Amino acid sequence: MSEVVIAADAEEAGALAAGIIGRLVQDDPAAVLGVATGSTPLPLYRALATLGLDFRGVTAFALDEYVGLPPGHAESYRQVIEREVVGPLGLDPTRVHVPNGDPEELAHAGSDYEAAIALAGGVDVQILGIGTDGHIGFNEPGSSLASPTRVKTLTPETRADNARFFDSIDDVPMHCVTQGIGTILRARHLILLAFGEAKASALAAAVEGPVTASVPASAIQLHPRVTVIVDEAAAAQLERADYYRYVFANRPAWQQL
Ligand code: PGA
Repeated sequence: MSEVVIAADAEEAGALAAGIIGRLVQDDPAAVLGVATGSTPLPLYRALATLGLDFRGVTAFALDEYVGLPPGHAESYRQVIEREVVGPLGLDPTRVHVPNGDPEELAHAGSDYEAAIALAGGVDVQILGIGTDGHIGFNEPGSSLASPTRVKTLTPETRADNARFFDSIDDVPMHCVTQGIGTILRARHLILLAFGEAKASALAAAVEGPVTASVPASAIQLHPRVTVIVDEAAAAQLERADYYRYVFANRPAWQQL
């Protein structure tokens, strides 16, 4: 594990993550970002929007998309990314990619997406949340740690977690197209965010447990450059929390997050 940062709250965590991404975009206005949906990255996007950076040259790849929502559905990840990321940051919509969840296109949705990421030169920084079941992207427990972008079936737990965005759990799609764990591991830097006590157990398993397909987020332990930024509640089950705080407090002056 590269670094675990325990922030006071989600706002501070978002600001720290925004600092990393802000420096990247400042250094490389044509950077490639991997963007996540859900509630977790919202403080990061809010903090990024205050930095006054020019995102027009940035390319973005979403992690996943539901299968079968009608085009323009407010909870499709295409729409969520437009609303929470593209608009507030001022990205060029033609540089923003989301997997194709059209049921008629699934046979090639995964390979098309892999090709688009490769054509863009790969992802510089991938933003990740974590599911209460330990997923990253929509790679549910049991996913191959080498998986490419493909169709997956959402667990009942994930559908229940995401029911808050829909009128009823029955409206939450059963399937998705998600970047694979292999895809995510090819990004050059991973930033995993987790907030709230509901994430504490999955986070501890991901960061300190064995690397296992049963906890897809544990695959981040295989990556050479990971920054995990969490709030106190999500950190509650980390056995080495004091050591992570000690490392952060004693960072050498030359080492930025
Ligand atoms: P959340 O979802 O940010 O809405 O909690 C995270 C995830 O499922 O990866």
